[in-house]
Amino acid sequence: MSQAFARLRQPLRAASRQVAGPSSRNAAPSFRASFRRFNSTEAPKPPKSNTGLYAGIAGGALLAGIGYYYYSSGMNPATAAKSGAQAAKVATNFVPSKEDYQKVYNKIAQMLDEAEDYDDGSYGPVILRLAWHASGTYDKDSNTGGSNYATMRFEPEALHGANNGLDVARGLMQKIKEEFPWISYGDLWTLGGVAAVQEMGGPKIPWRPGRIDGTAEKATPDGRLPDASQGSDHLRNIFYRMGFNDQEIVALSGAHALGRCHTDRSGFDGPWTFSPITLTNDYYRLLFDEKWVWRKWEGPKQLQDKSTRSLMMLPTDYVLVQDKSFKKYAKQYADDQDVFFKDFSDVVARLFELGVPTEQFVSKEPWVMKNADEE
Ligand code: HEM
Repeated sequence: MSQAFARLRQPLRAASRQVAGPSSRNAAPSFRASFRRFNSTEAPKPPKSNTGLYAGIAGGALLAGIGYYYYSSGMNPATAAKSGAQAAKVATNFVPSKEDYQKVYNKIAQMLDEAEDYDDGSYGPVILRLAWHASGTYDKDSNTGGSNYATMRFEPEALHGANNGLDVARGLMQKIKEEFPWISYGDLWTLGGVAAVQEMGGPKIPWRPGRIDGTAEKATPDGRLPDASQGSDHLRNIFYRMGFNDQEIVALSGAHALGRCHTDRSGFDGPWTFSPITLTNDYYRLLFDEKWVWRKWEGPKQLQDKSTRSLMMLPTDYVLVQDKSFKKYAKQYADDQDVFFKDFSDVVARLFELGVPTEQFVSKEPWVMKNADEE
């Protein structure tokens, strides 16, 4: 085993929580149940006017308010009282401030950690994946898709193969929504992505609210998200369509330092790094430092590290060191985590704003939300 690789293994030894076995199958059945109830194929009525942000928020929040009364029966009294106060805010032309959004952020940050038996001990990775899949449907030519309308709440988008397993993340976010019914789903999910990155040791992701809830007709057709079994042409087709370039494709892929693949979701199996709940540049370092071989198994084609056979790479990850243009950027990120963090922050901030008309945002400049430990 190379010395560099041995170094990358350190975090695994240090953090016992990270080696918890796959438990996605046990993942909170109640989330699944609440997801089914909330994601009916029937679209909610659109807000009467969505020309202004607050009209949009109020429209979405009204629905959420109804949702609150419907679901409050299962809440503990303290949560119900808080939600009641939040619902009252909705009814009184409440205009949320940055502090109000920070409260939502804090609640998400707390929730991410309440994942004792789940995967590697944090909901962060799956929450980040929700924010990305909500945003990555964007098509720059038709200006459709993106994070604006949170259409993944509805079938058939909820059932698109690429979104398998995200019912867990939507269920977790629903709990937050009950407490803060005034926030739109698009804002909530992307704020979740921001919190996931920041709370798992990543860079600050500038973010601002303004997304409005839409109806099922705003959903985009299946096939807009990347297919992990394909190569560089496919990656370029998918990400150029969103408006990203080669460097940005490589930077975005670094999110795979986090989390793992689940056989019951994508069919693929295993984590990319030894520290799947801490963002680092290990994903790139491992791509270069380790020897990757095709795994011999019944599942879809994926690579495994020759030394320990405990890590994986998807075919779309591996092309980052096969394709000349991608490789140049992957090397920069492998060599310097600060460069990766800077580019990752820029590109994720853009990703989360795809499809949102600029005039909908409440502030000209994105905000930097405080981490839980800065609060
Ligand atoms: C480059 C194209 C991409 C492909 C083909 C791809 C594919 C996949 C697949 C197959 C999984 C496993 C899902 C499962 O079985 O649970 C996954 C997980 C994940 N992806 Fe990607 N992805 C891509 C880009 C991204 C981007 C741009 C982000 C975020 C910026 C991202 C964040 C994640 C995270 C955090 C997980 C772990 C989820 C978990 O642990 O539950 N991916 N991805």
